[in-house]
Parts: sequence; C-alpha cells; structure tokens
Amino acid sequence: MAGGVIERYRTHLSLDNSVRAVTLNEGDTPLLEAPRLAGAIGFRGRLLLKLEGLNPTGSFKDRGMTVAVSQAVAEGSTAVICASTGNTSASAAAYAARAGLDAYVLLPRGKVASGKLSQALVHGAKIAAIEGNFDQALALVSELAQTHPVTIVNSINPYRLHGQKTAAFEVCDTLGAAPDYHFLPVGNAGNITAYWMGYREYCDAGVIDTRPKMMGFQASGAAPIVLGYLVESPQTVATAIRIGNPANWKAALAARDESGGVIDAVSDEEILEAYAMLASTEGIFAEPASAAAVAGLKKINAANPLPSSSIIVCTLTGHGLKDPSVATDAYPEPAVAAADINAVREVLQL
Ligand code: F0G
Repeated sequence: MAGGVIERYRTHLSLDNSVRAVTLNEGDTPLLEAPRLAGAIGFRGRLLLKLEGLNPTGSFKDRGMTVAVSQAVAEGSTAVICASTGNTSASAAAYAARAGLDAYVLLPRGKVASGKLSQALVHGAKIAAIEGNFDQALALVSELAQTHPVTIVNSINPYRLHGQKTAAFEVCDTLGAAPDYHFLPVGNAGNITAYWMGYREYCDAGVIDTRPKMMGFQASGAAPIVLGYLVESPQTVATAIRIGNPANWKAALAARDESGGVIDAVSDEEILEAYAMLASTEGIFAEPASAAAVAGLKKINAANPLPSSSIIVCTLTGHGLKDPSVATDAYPEPAVAAADINAVREVLQL
C-alpha cells in the first residue's frame, strides 16, 4: 500500500489534521512466516518475523521519524537534532532532507556501523563524533535543545513513539488478532514502549481481544534494565543497543509488567549465533541488534518450551547491510581462484 504510516493510521497518531506528511512511504513491512528458524530453535508453534529492515532507510526508526519530522515542520521548526547509535541518525538525516530541514547528529565516535554512518553523511547531516557513548550524547542533545531552536527527534519526542506503534497495528491487521508473544531487542527502550502502546490502543478500541506478552532483550554487556542499575560503559557487538541508561526505562518496565512479559539479556555469542541462524535458515540478513530478539526466543524456549499453540512475532529492527563488517569479520575471506574452470572447481569442491 502506498502512502506511509501517517496516511494509513492518521487518526491514531495525535497529529492535527493540518499536519502534512513528510514521508518516504515507510511501514507496511512484511510479516514473514519462519518455520525453518522455528525448527532450528526448537519452537513448535507459529513464528513470524516483522521485517523492519525493509523500511526506506533500513530500520524501524522511519515509522517514528515520519511523524516527528512532519510535526516539527508543522510547528515551524527548521532543524532536527538527535543522539544515535546509528539508525536514528540515518532516518533523521533522510527525513530532514526530504523536508528541507537541517539535521544535527551526535554519534559515539568509532561505535557506529559503517552503513549507518554513510547514510547520515550522504543525506547531509552535520555530525559530531562524540568521545563518549550514546548516553552522554543524548544528555548533550537535551542540553543543546534548551538553548537552540532545534527539535529533538530521539524517542523522548512523543511523536516518535506514536509513529512506531503503527508496527503493532500492522501485525494485528495482518494476523487478524494479536500474537501471544512479541519478541524484540531493547536499547533506549522506545520501541518496546511504542509496541505496547499500539497493542493497548488496539485492544481498547476493540480491534483485538488479547494483548501479547512483551519480551524484550538487551545485550548482556549493556543490560541496565535487567541488572536494575545504570551501566556506565556499555559494551556489545550489537552497537545499535549499546546503551547504559535508556530514556524510556520506566515505560519499558511498565510494558513488561502490564503484559506479563520479560526483559532479559543475551550474550554477544548468543546474538551472533542467532544472526547466522536467521541468515542461513530463512535467508534473512538482519543486523546484530535485531538478532538479539531471536537469541532471546531461543533462550526462553530452551529454558521452558513455549506452547505449540502459540503465535510469536519477532521484530527484526534493522537490515544486515547496515553493519556488514560484523559478517565479513566472522567469516574467512573467499578463496581466490584463477579464471579457469578447473581452478574454480577445485576452490568450490564442485
Ligand atoms: N534495533 C536497532 C536496529 C536499533 O537501531 C535500535 C535502537 C534498537 C533495536 C533498540 O530500540 O532504542 O527503541 O529500544 N537504535 C537507536 C539509534 C538507539 O540511535 O539508532 P530502542
């Protein structure tokens, strides 16, 4: 369907009717059956993957960015600003370009995947590589926005969450019901908050009768919500969720508790195993942070097998091409062969 999430779900988005959509036709992403992955994990029910990497800039952030940037333009703003582990900045830079706004971006130096950085650069964002982590960058953004005429487009901007909740609407619209469990990665905790808002609203409106248990996963080196305290130096291969002080911490706990769900941690080894499993069993290339949700499903199901009658949706938040070096570092370089049929046969053992 053409149009993007504002056109599809406008009445749910708290936007004034006069707000014109700044859109790249985000949303309406595939919800893909994943029987081979379910089999590999040992889950006997129905598993579906929400492929958010197929949004225009390659991550779920576009859903929130279309709403936040449209509202910013309507308010007369001429610039947006964000801190980012990469995807938010890619999306902010693209939507700002689309709207003719300036974009200012603060990134943790050396910790942003190359695909994401290339997007912020090519869309013309003004970038500061901070000698610090995401949490420090977000604190600086909040400070800057107090004295400069810039709109913050991190998920502390409520319009971001309204946009992102449309993914929950789409899941329900496609399935004709809510799933039993919804698995997703947790970083700054905006997305789990937004999904829960979407499920709650659809339930209150009578569109669905039940709500899923929200199952969020942090990387074990960056798991403040699981630990119950702030992590000063978060570390993980999944740089998208390398966050030690999530802005939506309390709302994420509410999503967990109200839904009867879980927020747990998975190790980098488990994340990389799930990353490879997704790619080899289903042909889906998702970035490492996205694989944390699959690793979480494997962990939970191994500890206590989930009923075979359950429907599980797992959100794959970003495309694997965002962070290609994780793949190229994990596998040996391809063997070189002369341009000769026998040499090629030998290399391929064909
Ligand atoms: N997956 C990906 C691919 C992400 O980029 C992020 C967050 C998350 C999961 C976690 O979502 O923060 O809503 O809990 N990326 C942010 C960014 C922090 O700056 O791009 P969350």
